[in-house]
Amino acid sequence: MITSKELRQKYLDFFKTKGHTIISSASLIPENDPTILFTTAGMHPLVPYLFGEKHPAGKCLTNAQKCIRTNDIDEVGDITHHTFFEMLGNWSLGDYFKEEAIAMSWEFLTSPQWLNLDKNRIAVSVFAGDNDVLFDQEAYDIWENKIKISKKKIAKLPKKDNWWNPVDSTGPCGPDTEIFYWVGTSECVPEVFDSNNSLWVEIWNNVFMQYNKIAEGKYELLKQRNVDTGMGLERILSILNNLNDDYKTDLFSNIIFKIEYLSNKKYNASNEITKAMRIIADHLKAAAFIIADDKSITPSNTNQGYIVRRLIRRAIRYGKQLGISQVLWIKEIAKIVAHDYASIYPEVQKNINFVIVQFNKEEEKFNKTLEHGLKKFVELTNNKTIDGIAAFNLYQTYGFPIEITQELAKEKGISVDEVGYKQELIKHQKLSRTVLAGMFKGGLINALPETIKYHTAVHLLLAALRQVLGKEVIQRGSNITAERLRFDFLYNEKMTKEQLQQVEDLVNQAIKQNLKVTCEELTLEQAKQIGAIGVFESKYGERVKVYTIGQDQDNNVFSKEICNGPHVKQTSILGRFKIQKEESSSAGVRRIKAILD
Ligand code: SER
Repeated sequence: MITSKELRQKYLDFFKTKGHTIISSASLIPENDPTILFTTAGMHPLVPYLFGEKHPAGKCLTNAQKCIRTNDIDEVGDITHHTFFEMLGNWSLGDYFKEEAIAMSWEFLTSPQWLNLDKNRIAVSVFAGDNDVLFDQEAYDIWENKIKISKKKIAKLPKKDNWWNPVDSTGPCGPDTEIFYWVGTSECVPEVFDSNNSLWVEIWNNVFMQYNKIAEGKYELLKQRNVDTGMGLERILSILNNLNDDYKTDLFSNIIFKIEYLSNKKYNASNEITKAMRIIADHLKAAAFIIADDKSITPSNTNQGYIVRRLIRRAIRYGKQLGISQVLWIKEIAKIVAHDYASIYPEVQKNINFVIVQFNKEEEKFNKTLEHGLKKFVELTNNKTIDGIAAFNLYQTYGFPIEITQELAKEKGISVDEVGYKQELIKHQKLSRTVLAGMFKGGLINALPETIKYHTAVHLLLAALRQVLGKEVIQRGSNITAERLRFDFLYNEKMTKEQLQQVEDLVNQAIKQNLKVTCEELTLEQAKQIGAIGVFESKYGERVKVYTIGQDQDNNVFSKEICNGPHVKQTSILGRFKIQKEESSSAGVRRIKAILD
């Protein structure tokens, strides 16, 4: 039996012995990347460094990164899919490449000193090559000649399988080689590897990131050759403990136990019950982490907030299916998550009261209409199709995200007019364009220069707010696209017109003065000592970057923040800063929307 804590640590320790610096997980909410809603892989927070920006912790890094994947929410319910999961990763930012990466992954997986997995149950795949990029002969040869894996256990697969990032997005990318483990019995390991056989489970992905995809079919070489690897913690933990179900690992067992208690049903009682419990466990854990994040997102009808709403409401609906009758029960799951992850990701514990308030609020809202909505839904099942207007009505009046209506309809064998629904929705302008465009899938930075300007503008804005409103102003979260910035901060009152004008003027003055933006690398302690502000938690004592804007001879500065960057070099490039809106975001949190022109 190996616990999740031991396994996570083992991974980090191994790569430490190989010269890697352990770095903390970044936030679940991307800051500089307008094209993704959540951090879906360990590489997202590291994109600037894959492009060549210098990382304060060096060229070889290792981490456990919190991730949210929303493109297969519907798959959650089986033994391996999750919305929230942790990705163990090791990173070469222009340092080692294919041979070392493959050798290290093999050693960690198979050495008796580390995971001691059965070598005979391992197979691999490499990139087969196409019109854009050649077959990865080098990786193939390393597996065959250096690691000595039988040819029959090396598959050559196309971009769809052996390329990261997902084929449709732009940004740093490259061919990968994946490692699979046979989870059937050891006596029946097939001689030939077939990636379509679900008993071969992918456990590790080594990505050789040396390209930047700029458009469909257009790849250019990056400045440096990087390695991005990923191993899902939940999956490998389940394999090592012979559980054949991620939800039986210690990363879920307490949550499942609580759901069993609340529903008075056993996890294994029927397939339907197992599936419902997995969905509830997964969705509420994910929602708790997103709400508890330093850049907290709360349930709403747009963008990430819509995902949080959808996760919570889907969990509540499955709770109903299980017969959970307690009022406001979902917070009980948040408490378990906070407890279980307290020593690894303390943010859930730290912000548990906020999470509970949000969970209660959302549950109350949905409960008010759920019963009626379900009744309404049953009436609709007399027809073969639920038309767009009816589906929209379920959403508008009863709070059923379209995905819940679709799911219920599927269970009843009827269809939903999705196009009609979207037309209705557009008419009522309920969702933002991004949600409609299906931006849940992920994608990569494609507007870097613009977002960098906005990133620097956010620092200027925070500094100006602190000058005008006082030092109690603390950043709560920010969201940047190539067109605008959105900035949330803790402050109790609505800002006056005069205060807004003062803030805007201060930022514009700083831009006009063409202040210099400089960066230094320090320990977290040193950074705090020199008065840098920021929410960064350095669990592993790694070095942090401090960005200073406008230091004069008397050591007066406009802004000094702990931040990973990147930023512009001089402020005048920002143009003109304009506040468009100041509003309440949630209790005690104000939101400013601003543009640069
Ligand atoms: N980015 C790759 C993945 O997510 C490897 O970390 O699979």
